[in-house]
Amino acid sequence: MSVQSSKNKYTLITNLNPKSHKSEAYKTLRTNITFSSIDRETKKILITSSQPSEGKTTTIANLAVAYAQENKKVLVIDADLRKPTLHHIFMKSNRVGLTNILANQNSLEEIIVSTDIPNLSLISSGPIPPNPSELLASRKMIELLKQLEQDFDLILIDSPPTISVTDSQILSTMCDGVLFVIHSGKVKRQVVVKALQNLEHVKAKVLGVVLNNKNSQSQDQSYTYY
Ligand SMILES: Nc1ncnc2c1ncn2[C@@H]1O[C@H](COP(=O)(O)OP(=O)(O)OP(=O)(O)O)[C@@H](O)[C@H]1O
Ligand SMILES: [Mg+2]
Repeated sequence: MSVQSSKNKYTLITNLNPKSHKSEAYKTLRTNITFSSIDRETKKILITSSQPSEGKTTTIANLAVAYAQENKKVLVIDADLRKPTLHHIFMKSNRVGLTNILANQNSLEEIIVSTDIPNLSLISSGPIPPNPSELLASRKMIELLKQLEQDFDLILIDSPPTISVTDSQILSTMCDGVLFVIHSGKVKRQVVVKALQNLEHVKAKVLGVVLNNKNSQSQDQSYTYY
């Protein structure tokens, strides 16, 4: 089964080619996350980066597939209410989603969709609101995550970059851990340090940093994890 189409510019390599080197890298990332949080439950994981286009959405989507392949019941939530793209990757509609439930317009059953990948569900962003930070900081968001925790083994949450908005900082306080993606070689050290300090400031638990080499054509892993 494949969710890849010629029209879909996003790569779900873990589904398309589970035995490839890149897929193995996502599985390694999955294993490392498990070992990085051995003493505490890490159920809600947020992904962010300092700047746009570093590979957050690609990483979280492939990581989600890697967990689902391990027979974990996985939910991916698109909380990037500025530039949502997870629905494109999983080729689902974004007519209703997270913003609708936060605005009390739809029920949970109406916004969770099964993807074509067994064990993997999606809550897309829903319509882009004028006040994303406010919606994400709401009590309703905290309650929603509490409820979803009962139903899923793992919840992976996509978010905007930290550079211009505080959305990911807000969300990090609701999650058990944060994965920080860096487009290797492209982002200034000071920018990364500042972003990590901001997350630390709100007491986020940074599980690790994912070095994403988008341009790697080699057989080497394009992902490293610290
Ligand atoms: N490891 C990779 N190898 C090849 N291409 C990649 C890799 N990671 C990301 N890309 C490509 O780079 C582009 C940006 O990636 P992606 O959308 O995942 O970044 P993002 O951090 O979520 O961006 P945004 O800040 O806009 O949400 C996409 O076209 C994606 O397919
Ligand atoms: Mg993205």
